[in-house]
Amino acid sequence: MTTDRPLPVIIDCDTGIDDALALLFAIRHPGLDLRAVTCVAGNTDVDGVVRNTLTVLEQAGAPDIPVARGAERPLIESVRRAPVHGQDGMGDLGLPAPARTSADMDAVTLLRREILASPHPVTLIPTAPLTNIALLLRTHPEVVRNIERIVFMGGAVATGNATPVAEFNVWHDPEAAAILLTAGVPITMYGLDVFQRVVVPGPDVRRLRASSEPGTRLAGELLAHRGPVTDEQDPGGGLGDAGAVCAVVDPEGITTELLPVEVSLAPGPTRGQTVVDRRPRPGEAEIHHGTREQPLLDVALGVDVERYVKLWLTAVE
Ligand code: BDR
Ligand code: CA
Repeated sequence: MTTDRPLPVIIDCDTGIDDALALLFAIRHPGLDLRAVTCVAGNTDVDGVVRNTLTVLEQAGAPDIPVARGAERPLIESVRRAPVHGQDGMGDLGLPAPARTSADMDAVTLLRREILASPHPVTLIPTAPLTNIALLLRTHPEVVRNIERIVFMGGAVATGNATPVAEFNVWHDPEAAAILLTAGVPITMYGLDVFQRVVVPGPDVRRLRASSEPGTRLAGELLAHRGPVTDEQDPGGGLGDAGAVCAVVDPEGITTELLPVEVSLAPGPTRGQTVVDRRPRPGEAEIHHGTREQPLLDVALGVDVERYVKLWLTAVE
């Protein structure tokens, strides 16, 4: 980062094991000023997401950061959870119910308020289906004047996870993702191509789990639950969504290319795919039918894994 002033950020999440890892990092990194957290249905139902988010903030001893409940289902699709996050959406670790409560307003209202109230442009970090963000952009388009950049976890250049070609967050609400892409602000796509690569080694996870500090211990438990379990005795854990927050703090840790991206909205096997155009020159389609306007995104194609693991560990411990 170029200034000493903490960067104002807002996380829109579906906590979610790796969303929790993202929150822990954002709370503890001195370069970030986490101004609000908004919740959306995704990994679990939206009430579960709110509860999990408040639990994480409480366990981490975070200051009083406003948390708001957002969309309980996608714009058009029906609700479909991500079973890898357990029954409660956060690994079924048996965590106590939070004493904190959510803000007395919906997520879109809180997003608008915090974005416009910030003395410096805000970086938005969605790590979930883009429903809240699409509703925000359609309801209060004036917010873009105080958004510096959107760094979102979603999409994939190569292989999907929810389907062979579609990543979960985009697949869950493809129309919302399509709206996000036309926001008219700089956007970084932190997709599956980099998301899956940043894994904390087993010995580090073991050390975190043994910590007497609740936030650090929670980070270790979440990572161990997340896997991949390459060694039963010493499971490592992927940082997942937390990598997108690392990309805000340290953009030089990823390699990006400015590329045209489109979300497939067609029914059928490609629905929810992010079609990233990596061709060096126009093809037959453009020669015959002319070019089409498409949003250009900074698409993350490479990541310095060790650098992000170290960055995350240093802040969270
Ligand atoms: C995304 O889906 C969710 O399960 C994770 O939290 C992450 O945001 C990965 O496809
Ligand atoms: Ca997520």
